[in-house]
Amino acid sequence: LAGAGGYVTFGAMKAIVVHPESHDLTWQDVPEPTIAAGQVLVEIHATAVNRADLLQRIGQYPPPPGESEILGLEMSGVIRDVADDVADWTPGDRVCALLGGGGYAERVAVDARQLLPVPEGWRLDRAAAVPEVFLTAWVNLFREAGLQAGESVLIHAGASGVGTAAIQLAREAGCRPLVTAGGEAKRQRCRELGAEFVCDYKETDFADEVLAHLRSADPDATGVDVVLDVGAASHLERNLRVLGPGGRLVLIALLGGAAGEIDLGQVLRKRLRLIGSTLRSRPVAEKGDIIAAFRAQFWEALVAGRIEPVIDRVIPVQQAAEAHDVIAGNCTIGKVILHVRDE
Ligand SMILES: NC(=O)c1ccc[n+]([C@@H]2O[C@H](COP(=O)([O-])OP(=O)(O)OC[C@H]3O[C@@H](n4cnc5c(N)ncnc54)[C@H](OP(=O)(O)O)[C@@H]3O)[C@@H](O)[C@H]2O)c1
Repeated sequence: LAGAGGYVTFGAMKAIVVHPESHDLTWQDVPEPTIAAGQVLVEIHATAVNRADLLQRIGQYPPPPGESEILGLEMSGVIRDVADDVADWTPGDRVCALLGGGGYAERVAVDARQLLPVPEGWRLDRAAAVPEVFLTAWVNLFREAGLQAGESVLIHAGASGVGTAAIQLAREAGCRPLVTAGGEAKRQRCRELGAEFVCDYKETDFADEVLAHLRSADPDATGVDVVLDVGAASHLERNLRVLGPGGRLVLIALLGGAAGEIDLGQVLRKRLRLIGSTLRSRPVAEKGDIIAAFRAQFWEALVAGRIEPVIDRVIPVQQAAEAHDVIAGNCTIGKVILHVRDE
């Protein structure tokens, strides 16, 4: 499709390619994407690592139908071309975006509904840390769990990319973020971001600790309103115990295993709701709706600096395998960015 910017949308570019057997990652020539109706072509400056990339690399998380086979669920960069039917964006715009795939590359074609502007004065490396974690935190806290001002939310892996975003959104919305995190450095960062209470789930029973904290302020407290969970099976019993009546448990990852035993009596008696959620598999129109709603509620706070992406480190995209090892080591606080092109 010849776009309004006249950019040549064929030829070669560099991207990270996964070797089908060894799963080694190499930066090599691949065909350049072409834009379809409703899409823009972006020159990528930065992308970021998500755990889904580690699973996709070993064949355990294939991209949804129609999405790029190239790793990478988000990116920031500069628009080079737009399809004739795209009215809101023009070549030269600095953007970041949620992707179904294709971020570990020099260029990507993305539906315009998945774009966010880059705030004035921000570096593109920083903007690449926004889409996946802030939109995941937003959709699960506010849309799936229906978190309301004044309610409490237990955020597991509080120092993770999603966790650092969730703490800030909950605090900004007038909610009470309580978190679990492994190790004192992570716990300290969570406190700085606004967590009301922090505990180490590896050393203590987080349900006992959180309930004791709530009851220290209110002896009649019955539990938290929402749990944002990544532990799954390993956390299930304690998550059900820590929720109060009408509580909502939102499951976004299976880091502690997929199969667990559940006390349905607690679910029944406390009128709990169990919600599973993925962002990547949602239709483009729904992603666009989520992005618009996030912008309406939190964009002003992001631009004003009251909420901000937390970045652990920036690594050249050619060293993506090293970046995956860093994430797998569970030692990061916030995002690991892959730098693709200088500004
Ligand atoms: N469903 C969705 O739509 C969606 C979207 C984005 C991300 N996710 C998932 O959400 C999770 C967090 O994403 P992220 O990018 O924020 O991850 P991240 O920055 O890589 O952080 C993950 C953290 O989880 C903790 N963790 C590791 N193994 C654990 C286990 N077995 N039980 C409990 N905690 C464990 C570790 O922190 P501690 O040291 O504190 O244990 C680790 O640093 C990932 O699994 C990711 O795949 C889901």
